[in-house]
Amino acid sequence: MRARAIPSLLMFSAVAIVSIGAATYISVPRNAVSAHQVTQPLPIPPSDAEARAFADKLIAKMTLAEKLGQMTQVPLNSPPPRPADELARTGSVGSFLFITDAAEINRLQHVAVEQSRLHIPLLFGYDVIHGFRTIYPVPIALAASWDPSAAEQAQSMAAREARATGIQWAFAPMVDIARDPRWGRIMEGAGEDPFLGSRMAEAQVKGFQGATLGEPDHIMACVKHFAGYGAASGGRDYEESNISDEQLWNVYLPPFHAALEAGAGSIMSAYMDLNGVPATGNRFLLHDVLRDDWNFHGMVVSDWAAVKSLTTHGFSKDDTDAAVRALNAGVDMEMSTTNFQDKLPAALHQGLVTEAAINNAVRNILIAKYKLGLFKNPYSDPSKTASLMVTPEQRATARKIATQTAVLLRDQDNLLPLSSKYKTIALIGPLADSKPDIMGSWCLAGHPSDSVTVLEGLHKRYDATAKILYTKGVEIEREQPSIFDEQFSSPKPTMTTDAERDTEFHHALDLINQSDVAILVLGELQSMSGERASRSSLDLPGKQEQLLEAAVATGKPIVLVLLNARPLNITWASKNVPVILEAWYPGTEGGNAIADLLSGDANPGGKLPVAWPLTIGQIPINYGRNLTQIPEAPNTRYWDGSSAPLYPFGYGLSYSTFTTTNLRIAAPTVHAGSTLQVSVDVQNTSNRAGDEVVELYTHQRAGSASRPVRELKGFVRVSLKPNETRTVTIALNTKDLGFWSPQTHHWSMEPGTFDLWAGTDETATTHTTFDLVP
Ligand code: BGC
Repeated sequence: MRARAIPSLLMFSAVAIVSIGAATYISVPRNAVSAHQVTQPLPIPPSDAEARAFADKLIAKMTLAEKLGQMTQVPLNSPPPRPADELARTGSVGSFLFITDAAEINRLQHVAVEQSRLHIPLLFGYDVIHGFRTIYPVPIALAASWDPSAAEQAQSMAAREARATGIQWAFAPMVDIARDPRWGRIMEGAGEDPFLGSRMAEAQVKGFQGATLGEPDHIMACVKHFAGYGAASGGRDYEESNISDEQLWNVYLPPFHAALEAGAGSIMSAYMDLNGVPATGNRFLLHDVLRDDWNFHGMVVSDWAAVKSLTTHGFSKDDTDAAVRALNAGVDMEMSTTNFQDKLPAALHQGLVTEAAINNAVRNILIAKYKLGLFKNPYSDPSKTASLMVTPEQRATARKIATQTAVLLRDQDNLLPLSSKYKTIALIGPLADSKPDIMGSWCLAGHPSDSVTVLEGLHKRYDATAKILYTKGVEIEREQPSIFDEQFSSPKPTMTTDAERDTEFHHALDLINQSDVAILVLGELQSMSGERASRSSLDLPGKQEQLLEAAVATGKPIVLVLLNARPLNITWASKNVPVILEAWYPGTEGGNAIADLLSGDANPGGKLPVAWPLTIGQIPINYGRNLTQIPEAPNTRYWDGSSAPLYPFGYGLSYSTFTTTNLRIAAPTVHAGSTLQVSVDVQNTSNRAGDEVVELYTHQRAGSASRPVRELKGFVRVSLKPNETRTVTIALNTKDLGFWSPQTHHWSMEPGTFDLWAGTDETATTHTTFDLVP
């Protein structure tokens, strides 16, 4: 079919190519990217004014139906309301989601661009959460790297595969702060801390989008879920969040703001009620905060069916009311349901919404498409797609990042790295050889057949030197089905009788008894965390704990490798199992990365992005809390056990050992608005190269409101050679010392004395003070 000429109105002026060399990456030079570049370079990015003028000219030509079409996003994982071609041809859809067939994407794009009246390209969106076809560690693991450049690189690589498939929009990053590990979606975010969360949010936006929206081989980010979803009551997914203003401004909103400041082109409104008002009908969030306060000019998409479900909340009286309230609150595009399309014409007629409000929404969508370069280069090249998936470069990056994200929680007597004296290794566990489970949830475009299990990784690493004896020991299963079972599922249990299960359990113990060392790969199936994957218990599912305890009782050295995405109850293990390695869901190359870590080819350096509770009754147990009575005994808040976490926020070991000393500041006082240079000497006191994360915490001694005991305000991950000492300087930005005061209801930066600590986790003891002055 001959491509129809695009009207001159849609043309860019031909000017120089955007540089793609700005960001720095860990291992892959950016110029390597251009070798595989599949999308055309975009001329110099259009200014906001140019994009707006372009959109307004187009809007002037659009019918109401075409406008509402742009405001509708149709999922293609189930039959659409009308055939997809017809929707595209008639301008009845602005965006499709859940389609990953490159040829079909391109075909639909041709229909929209060549056959629709105004030739408006479609936006193809997808949940590119931690990889597209090549799967990287889950987002909570990326946060555990404490290395924003690793997160940026992972999302940049993910963007490249997605874009090569024709997808131009990722529903990520999820930047919801989460302090309750019962909530399954804790895996999709950066954990409990707004400072770490903000840095990870910015990095991921840059990874997805590149330096600017429209960069070749990149896609638009969609920051989600605005806002407060991570505080779901009781950790129960989708339930209401009740968040004080103080916590909202100081804890939950900062990562969103950081992501938007980093240039994110879109944002997704959340499902749940925030303080009694649904986030998708919440004008305070979607207008007052987003547009007025933050001056956001990008587009807002609702979460899945969240417009329609405004009635479920007991908020809207019917579908029309839902459409009206979502639009008037600030939603531009409706995901998956069609209330906008079906109900806004009558609502406009009745004066319940204005044409200006509809035009605003359409303008935001067209501007995004324009900035993405879709009016100029709407197509991808499906003939190249397959060759750009799971390339050796993608694999190498995925493997490296998976070693950087692992957190070593315990290594008694330096059992790890494994000594070469171990000639027979037992590998036990339901997750040790499961291809889907090493990938984690939210990787629907990933192919389990691409992934390397721990068994495969160990075989590759050890077959020449040791024997591996493998069996599952136990099987695990979700009690209720997962919403993703049809698209992506873990292997089903094969043992059906108690006798079979008993035999297998004892077979595992026999293998351990025949071995010099045993590695148990336990945790959760990938479907046990993620959306609609909340839990009321944090115990290891099924009979894994019994297996672990029986394994330890053999007297053999035991290594516990966890595959999961939330803190679990490992309190017994923390005292009785010599090694605990939190590998998270490490992705396609996970098995190789775990072999690298166990063997010592790589050295763990990740740190917890969330405090690890000792008991489930401690939740929430985030470190940045306020203290009141009896501060000298902060860990005695319960009479029946410690109120200290099992592992503190920021914690993680290495095969190397480090000291952090000589904390010093450039001056004892710092002026509000400027930056304080903080230096500290970090020494690798071992004979092994390794990474340490230097973490800076502050405490404001007095203020207009109570101030948290500690707040993370800076960090850097450094690689040190054996016995190397390095002076690390971190710029502490005084703007990060400001907070939203529940007394004044304003942001304030309050002069006074601050404590400052530097060290390896939130219990850091190296201390000094400084004064913030006007
Ligand atoms: C999730 C979003 C996701 C959307 C599309 C929703 O159920 O909450 O995070 O982007 O589905 O898959």
